[in-house]
Amino acid sequence: MAFILAATGSAVGLGNIWKFPYITGENGGGAFVLVYLVCILLIGIPVMMGEILIGRRGRKNASHSIVDLAEEANASSIWAFMGLAGILASFLILTFYVVVAGWSFSYIFTAGRGAFTDASPEAIESIFNDFLANPMRLIFWSTLVVGATMFTVAGGVKKGLERAVTALMPGMLIILFILVGYAMRTGSFMEGVRFLFAVDFSALSTEGVLIALGHAFFTLSLASGVMITYGSYLPENVSIFKTTLAVAAADTAVALLAGLAIFPIVFANGLEPGAGPGLIFVTLPIAFGQMPFGAFFGTLFFVMLSFAAFTSTISLLEPAVAWTVERFSVTRTRATIITGSILWLLSLGPALSSNKWSHITIFKKSIFDAIDYLTANIMLPLGGLLVALFTAWIMKESVTREELELEQSSVYPMWRFVMRYVAPIAIVIVFLNAIGIITF
Ligand code: PHE
Repeated sequence: MAFILAATGSAVGLGNIWKFPYITGENGGGAFVLVYLVCILLIGIPVMMGEILIGRRGRKNASHSIVDLAEEANASSIWAFMGLAGILASFLILTFYVVVAGWSFSYIFTAGRGAFTDASPEAIESIFNDFLANPMRLIFWSTLVVGATMFTVAGGVKKGLERAVTALMPGMLIILFILVGYAMRTGSFMEGVRFLFAVDFSALSTEGVLIALGHAFFTLSLASGVMITYGSYLPENVSIFKTTLAVAAADTAVALLAGLAIFPIVFANGLEPGAGPGLIFVTLPIAFGQMPFGAFFGTLFFVMLSFAAFTSTISLLEPAVAWTVERFSVTRTRATIITGSILWLLSLGPALSSNKWSHITIFKKSIFDAIDYLTANIMLPLGGLLVALFTAWIMKESVTREELELEQSSVYPMWRFVMRYVAPIAIVIVFLNAIGIITF
């Protein structure tokens, strides 16, 4: 149970409530959602099983677990690189994740003082834009997130994390249902539903397919060393398959509920679904501004979102800390101070990319967008590809079969087939297609 809670805490976060709606909006809706769901089912779930099994078998940090398992399979120690790449990915994700978590924390107070009550959509938009233009405020909040994350990770995460997630998940679901209830009465509910579920492939670009694939990894916390690290704390007698299903189901439910709450509000107020990263920070405040007890629900919502983000930032820092402890034989506290300080410094890039450094671009993207793109759409899919190859081609069948404890069921052959052929081929095709090397 503790593992399910921790893994769910990691998976459910800004990716579900902030990122999923805005990238769905940017990529045309239904077809994107369908591809995303297929990616979760066909690639995300098997890869998550693969990562947890690596961690539980290796019992070390992401990189060292892989080295040991490669050795066990008489394979090259170059596979360690896969673990390191994952640790680097989670660290890079964290540099912008703490900034968005900071937006959420700050909005607890914006909502709490009633700033949204009866405000026009334009006024609510400018509250958000003014915030993004203010470097000191952004840095203040992201610093707070970094500090709180370091404090929790240094102390060992278990107790606090379990308690936080136990309270969080039901609370989050209740408030999302309230928001969906509100969305039903906006008069544009069906338009929102159609946007999310009516499949129109002409609205989806080849790059959109890659973004959907990348997001399947991002939202399930895959290819980032996180599930390997958490898997290393998982007891022997727990079913990896059932655990994975539970985590993936909770994660998907939260994302879809968020979409159902947000898009009707977007359409009812004449907003743009493709408005970008600010989408929920504009649409939901409009809803809170108009509904009864809106300041209360708004505050509660941003408290929940901040908690959800926080249980993810903890998991994102953990792989780097676990690696630093084992690699340099330092204490947990020292490892946290070192990695946390570097993180804070790097987070200034994404924090300043909406103001002082907005002129700096990398491949025509802001610093924020460039790190997001590099991690979610390049590092995570490639990492997932390696996990599939490693667990299904390098590790011995007897080992993975024993670790997954699926001797009697047909799930094991299916898992192995998907990891050997389906997932790797699909990832490679999506990639080559997105960069234009193959077209259909
Ligand atoms: N899954 C988290 C979310 O959806 C983000 C995350 C990515 C966490 C990778 C850990 C590793 O918000």
